[in-house]
Amino acid sequence: MEMKSLFEPRGIAVIGASANPEKIGYRIVENVVRSGYQGGVYPINPKGGEILGLRAYPNVVEVGETIDVAVLAVPASRVLDAVDDCGAAGVHHVVIITSGFSEVGNLEDEREIVRRARAHGMRVLGPNIFGIYSAAASLDATFGPGGISPGPVAIVTQSGALGIAMIGKTATESVGLSALVSVGNKADVDEADLLEVLSADERTRAILMYVEGVKNGDRLQKTLARVTRTKPVVVIKSGRSKRGSMAAASHTGSLAGADEVFDAVMRQSGVLRAESVQEAFTWVRYLAETPLPPGDQAVIVTNGGGIGVLATDACEKYEVTLYDDQEVLEETFAGVMPDFGSSKNPVDLTGQATAEDYARSLGAVLAEDRMDAAIALYCETALFDTSRFADLLRDVYARYRGRKPIVFSLFGGERIEAVIRELKGEGIPVFGDVYEAVSALGALYRVHRRMLEPVEPAEPLELPIDGIREVFDGARADGRTFLLAPEAAQVAGLLGLDMPRSIVARNLDEAVRAADEIGYPVVMKVVSKDIVHKSDSGGVALDLVNEVEVVDAYQAILRSCRAHVPDAVIDGIEVVEMVRPGVETIVGARQDPSFGPVVMIGLGGIYVEVMKDVAFRAAPVDRSAAREMIADLRSYPLLLGVRGESRKDIDAIADVVVRLSHLIAQCREITDIEVNPLVAYDHGQGTRTVDMRILIQRPEGVS
Ligand code: ACO
Repeated sequence: MEMKSLFEPRGIAVIGASANPEKIGYRIVENVVRSGYQGGVYPINPKGGEILGLRAYPNVVEVGETIDVAVLAVPASRVLDAVDDCGAAGVHHVVIITSGFSEVGNLEDEREIVRRARAHGMRVLGPNIFGIYSAAASLDATFGPGGISPGPVAIVTQSGALGIAMIGKTATESVGLSALVSVGNKADVDEADLLEVLSADERTRAILMYVEGVKNGDRLQKTLARVTRTKPVVVIKSGRSKRGSMAAASHTGSLAGADEVFDAVMRQSGVLRAESVQEAFTWVRYLAETPLPPGDQAVIVTNGGGIGVLATDACEKYEVTLYDDQEVLEETFAGVMPDFGSSKNPVDLTGQATAEDYARSLGAVLAEDRMDAAIALYCETALFDTSRFADLLRDVYARYRGRKPIVFSLFGGERIEAVIRELKGEGIPVFGDVYEAVSALGALYRVHRRMLEPVEPAEPLELPIDGIREVFDGARADGRTFLLAPEAAQVAGLLGLDMPRSIVARNLDEAVRAADEIGYPVVMKVVSKDIVHKSDSGGVALDLVNEVEVVDAYQAILRSCRAHVPDAVIDGIEVVEMVRPGVETIVGARQDPSFGPVVMIGLGGIYVEVMKDVAFRAAPVDRSAAREMIADLRSYPLLLGVRGESRKDIDAIADVVVRLSHLIAQCREITDIEVNPLVAYDHGQGTRTVDMRILIQRPEGVS
């Protein structure tokens, strides 16, 4: 079913409409009528009669007119029947206000609603929502406070209470809405469906999403990545502090907290994540009202040195570039600023500047093609005529509007506060806090950069998936959900990862021969499915340099493992080439409960254990995304080479990230895969996979 008629219905029924003003069914009819909706409005109530002057029908089937949307505000026990009635009446969308479904564990009825709706070709918004507002149809079908002003911002919210509170906030913040959609339990229609509609909607110039939990994250990520190329999307997500619920089966698992993955995937998709509702409002309003800058060179104009420095700090934080060609700056401001001012950026007009100096300097920024945006700071001084100040800013803004971005930040007493309130109400980007002002400009620059990013066609990567699956089948036939070292090595080989040579020895003689063949030094490891923690059980010996050490190690490993895990079946001892040292990294991938396949890179050792210095992306990633992930690491300089160390083979690390990301995306039966450590050598010398662990799902029907 097409989604447009949800936003522009030809007729709307409210099932559970009531003449009692205390009831939700009354509020919805009242809002629909008051919002100026021009289509047919049909209250449905078993008693019939009239509600708010409209004829009420006992059943939606009796209306006999075109109804695209039916809002259901009947108790949970009546919802299924009402859905069937809507189907019979030819409704396209059921908007279910009613609570009492999956949010309280009643998943069964919620699924049944969707099943029945789909059988009638209908889509379901909700349940457990406060409704929908659509400026395209002048339709407020919510039970909110009413009085929503139309405008360029669309809000999609999972939280009902916060969504209703946002209606009030849009009024105080002078934010006009193109749409406000409550998604609640997302039984059917979800954010991805709505983003598709809103991205095509000409009224909508910026989208704000409030997310509590992600469903179908895979699809959401792909939709966001597409939408953000043409429209800004700002997201607020609650539950920042919560860790992923999946058991920590690997480093990737323990580090891939739900919030870390969400954050990484949002950045990857070009979405701006706001820290607070206030920040989100600041950004969407500015993004919706301001054209993209012609370039990224901003100039700060101030009458106070201190706030100029604060603004400079804020520019660094929010990645706003400051124009720094000194000669051009001097030329530009020579005739328009006091002699004792400074034309360095921040351009400091000093406390003696008059309103005229201020206006002239901002005019100079506007006129200079090499300067792309202005940050105008003002501290209240006695020399300024504050009564004319609002007019001055209005005038400056009117000249900038549509040509270059500008933000104003004003400091002062009650009179200045009044100016801020007054101009904010008119939609002029005036802020009391310099960080807030610069953050808005920073958001605009991020959106701009996102839109300029080249769209790289996905690089297909052929992997020998059939061969890899055969290895998994072998493990499953043996009742395992993890691969033994030789099996993992086989997969690594198929993936094209460079693993050290390894031979499994069944007795002491074979071990000595294997070490000779591989060449010293070697490592020895126990092979047993019953011994998971090999090192802890004394099952590993490193850096064995001759035959005597190999013989000693063989006996010591067997002795120690038998003591630690007496019943363990030991299949042999693996003799492995000892890998020469380099920089240890860790590359992992897993199925994230929200977003599906994700890939991770981190530096090994303490960087990953203590610093949690890792980067995630939704998988698969291409080479450039893999390189970006590596560059995102705080410890990246160690790979670039510090203190005379040479640069490491970053391309070779990126190659492993790409391969693992494609494997996890193509083989959904892998739950976790981790190469740890992946040792990286100097540029051009590649990487070695020292150890690889793979966990797979249980076969169907086995618990
Ligand atoms: N068809 C049409 N009308 C019906 C039907 C039916 N099959 N069955 C009952 N009705 C009528 C009732 O007679 C009543 O009208 P009346 O006032 O003339 O008698 C009206 O529908 C409402 O029914 P009530 O039984 O009075 O139910 P009530 O209004 O108390 O509650 C509601 C219904 C609001 C849907 C409730 O069940 C509910 O789920 N409340 C929570 C809603 C919510 O919070 N949603 C999430 C929003 S987001 C947030 O968190 C803020």
